[in-house]
Amino acid sequence: MIIKQASFVISNTDYKKCPDDQKAEYAFIGRSNVGKSSLINSLTNNKSLAKTSSKPGKTQLINHFLINNEWYMVDLPGYGYAKTSKTNRAIFHKMINDYLLNRKNLICLFVLIDSRHNLQAIDDDFMQWLAENQIPFSIIFTKTDKVSKNNLAKNLKDFKKKMLENWSELPNILLSSAHKKEGLKEILNYISFLNSEVN
Ligand code: GTP
Ligand code: MG
Repeated sequence: MIIKQASFVISNTDYKKCPDDQKAEYAFIGRSNVGKSSLINSLTNNKSLAKTSSKPGKTQLINHFLINNEWYMVDLPGYGYAKTSKTNRAIFHKMINDYLLNRKNLICLFVLIDSRHNLQAIDDDFMQWLAENQIPFSIIFTKTDKVSKNNLAKNLKDFKKKMLENWSELPNILLSSAHKKEGLKEILNYISFLNSEVN
């Protein structure tokens, strides 16, 4: 798939105010700073569509982007950001959970994991919650440019092994580097395939 058009639609704290739910939707989530907003910018070939930062906790709203006038990409706040108050964390948590549990047109949630890390409890717990609530998801490893090819293969193998300790099957796992623009075609082809299944 080629992205011909990508535009910002709206930012919300409440899923009820999100745009019409007649178009297929794909959202990006993961720990703060994992590279969600950067990946959206790379996929759409637009450096400033989603706001990025080297400091965690940048994205604080549910951000909708309309792609090819046909489907939505959604940039979500990260989880696991420690430097905020308990009250704020609870607000984020509720905002994200409400969105994920109620957004009927969410075809696939991409859970982003830093390629340098093995499966962390926070990601595993989150994915368990997704499975319990039947929210379809796939994994995208990010920042693959930060590890050597050998280490990437090893990390991926270790990650899958650890995941299979608690999971009976693995979700789809894709690889990406927003900076080197790698793995983008595979992600877009996957979205294109899912779009063709719903249409
Ligand atoms: P929050 O909105 O704060 O949750 O963060 P985020 O997950 O949206 O991360 P963001 O895209 O803002 O990127 C965080 C940092 O990681 C920035 O300094 C990016 O430049 C960097 N980064 C993102 N993607 C890549 C990548 O593919 N490679 C490298 N080397 N750095 C990346
Ligand atoms: Mg962000």
